[in-house]
Amino acid sequence: MMTTQDTAPPCPHVAGPDDWEWRFTLGSPEDTATLAEHVGDLTDAGDVLALWGDLGVGKSAFARALIRAQTSAEEDVPSPTFTLVQIYEPTADAPIWHFDLYRLNGPEDIWELGFDDALEDAVSLIEWPERLGRQLPLRRLDVELVFAPEISPTARHIRLIGRGPDWARRVERLSLERGETSGD
Ligand SMILES: Nc1ncnc2c1ncn2[C@@H]1O[C@H](COP(=O)(O)OP(=O)(O)OP(=O)(O)O)[C@@H](O)[C@H]1O
Ligand SMILES: [Mg+2]
Repeated sequence: MMTTQDTAPPCPHVAGPDDWEWRFTLGSPEDTATLAEHVGDLTDAGDVLALWGDLGVGKSAFARALIRAQTSAEEDVPSPTFTLVQIYEPTADAPIWHFDLYRLNGPEDIWELGFDDALEDAVSLIEWPERLGRQLPLRRLDVELVFAPEISPTARHIRLIGRGPDWARRVERLSLERGETSGD
């Protein structure tokens, strides 16, 4: 269902036996960028990363850091607010399709943007994934950002939920490297 609300419904909770969840707290935009770079190193062609969270929480900041780490630090990464999608072509790795679906009229319209090509051979970063309803792929990494004003204005809670065993294995590497884990 398409709504014009400014507050995102929450990212779905762990639903299946193959789903794994990790939680971290990020103190600053730099922490968010570092985590995004690590996540970018885990991605492969065909992956879907759904970026959940309220307006201004840092979904684009996460996407921008991931894209710059895979392309170049100077890469211009405009928010695809009106174009709905921007495509990046890292030299070594799979293309990255950065979607901002806030203005998507209806879930089916995603296919007109060439989403089937992205699912085949690109990494899809999707802001406002709730706009896809049932078109949102089940096999994906959910990244949920939540303001943490009780800590500081620049703090965010982040949940990574790997949907399916393949993501569980990969995100496990990430938590081992960071020395934090909270697999459910
Ligand atoms: N820990 C943090 N992580 C990410 N961004 C942060 C953090 N602390 C402060 N910020 C700031 O919050 C803002 C996040 O803006 P951003 O455009 O990334 O949000 P968004 O979730 O993409 O919003 P929208 O829903 O409008 O697309 C930036 O100005 C960024 O500098
Ligand atoms: Mg954004």
